[in-house]
Amino acid sequence: MLTTQRVTTSRDINAVAVLANQIWNQHFPPIIGQEHVDYMLDKFQGVPAITRQICEDGYEYYLIVDEDQYTGYFALVAEDGDGGALQLSKLYLKRSSRGRGLGRAVLAWIEEECVERGVRELWLTVNKDNADSIAFYQRVGFGVAGSSVTDIGGGFVMDDYRMAKSIVD
Ligand SMILES: CC(C)(COP(=O)(O)OP(=O)(O)OC[C@H]1O[C@@H](n2cnc3c(N)ncnc32)[C@H](O)[C@@H]1OP(=O)(O)O)[C@@H](O)C(=O)NCCC(=O)NCCS
Repeated sequence: MLTTQRVTTSRDINAVAVLANQIWNQHFPPIIGQEHVDYMLDKFQGVPAITRQICEDGYEYYLIVDEDQYTGYFALVAEDGDGGALQLSKLYLKRSSRGRGLGRAVLAWIEEECVERGVRELWLTVNKDNADSIAFYQRVGFGVAGSSVTDIGGGFVMDDYRMAKSIVD
């Protein structure tokens, strides 16, 4: 059975960092290269970075638990204002857990959360070359709503699509 577990303790944060290290090093080197992966893991998905995002930047991290195992994680960032938007900052499943409907189930949980919070739009950014994930997001109702190139330092940029899905009650 699938459940989500809000990340609150340093033990939880460590579990996310371990998953990030494993998933990113499997999935992203063919897409953006190993050096870029190393840079982003250190800058965004190490224990200090995740701790800062939760404590200072309003990120809500969740572990995905399936059959009593941590199988992935995601993060949400709420935007201020009535009927605002919610950013799905990341959604990553271990390779062995993909293709079994877990991604769709997690999205359904997030959309229920949006309805409860009165959120009208769920949006995310995804690397333009991350074709499988783009196909997944399109399949579960997201559309491309723009693109962005973000300088993240170290000589690297994130070249992304913005994808969005309207939330209806
Ligand atoms: C993207 C990801 C979260 C999707 O989760 P998943 O559990 O593998 O997806 P699901 O099995 O729930 O698939 C849901 C639907 O999308 C479809 N889908 C999934 N991958 C697809 C692909 N590559 N091409 C076409 N359709 C796809 C499925 O067929 C399924 O359709 P259906 O429910 O109508 O039958 C997961 O594959 C993942 O973690 N990928 C690597 C990390 C990553 O890139 N994350 C996104 C970063 S922005």
